[in-house]
Amino acid sequence: MRARPFSFDISLKGDWGSQFDRRLERRLSGLTGIYLDSESQTRLALQGDPLVYEVFEMLRPTQAGELLNGLSVIHPGKVGREYFMTKGHYHEVRETAEMYYCVQGTGYLLMENEQGDWAVEEFRSGRVVYVTPGWAHRSINTGTAEDLITYFAYPGHSGHDYATIETHGFLKRVVEEDGRPVVIDDPLRSSAGRRASTGKDGRA
Ligand code: F6R
Ligand code: ZN
Repeated sequence: MRARPFSFDISLKGDWGSQFDRRLERRLSGLTGIYLDSESQTRLALQGDPLVYEVFEMLRPTQAGELLNGLSVIHPGKVGREYFMTKGHYHEVRETAEMYYCVQGTGYLLMENEQGDWAVEEFRSGRVVYVTPGWAHRSINTGTAEDLITYFAYPGHSGHDYATIETHGFLKRVVEEDGRPVVIDDPLRSSAGRRASTGKDGRA
């Protein structure tokens, strides 16, 4: 791990991973329960199990003062009326923020907090989204052919709480209606705001 200041390019030539230390991949079979249309999800997972998204991470110490950063690459695709999207999570340390910079593509960052507020911010090339502390976040690629590529940075001690979203889902979903993305209430949302017990970091 580098001890001196450094810089790097975010390549626009498709070689996304080379500057980063670790690549995580999420295939549809590993995203059970996040889509409304579970039948389509099972069918697609059996028919080739598409790669939904990849995360390229710069490894830094997981401590306050550091910034963990990297690229999320969400591929285009749909499951039923819903677009390919990330699992979504809270940060384990709720008082930590995150910034996203959209390098390429179109989509949304869907967010909510434990007080029951929600927000949707648009991703398009060159746009920044600031996630304030205490807000869960999920990236959604609404493009038909292009990857949604975002650069993110967040405090080193944030940790990830996936369990709360796995248990309760988000309040809202982004679905395709008449060829356009629209925000709807999640019909599956269970008792809002209750927090599940979590490990320190369920990311890997
Ligand atoms: C880190 C962060 C991003 C996401 C990535 C994948 O705190 O928000 O790096 O981790 O976009 O999404 P998840 O982690 O929800 O699978
Ligand atoms: Zn995050």
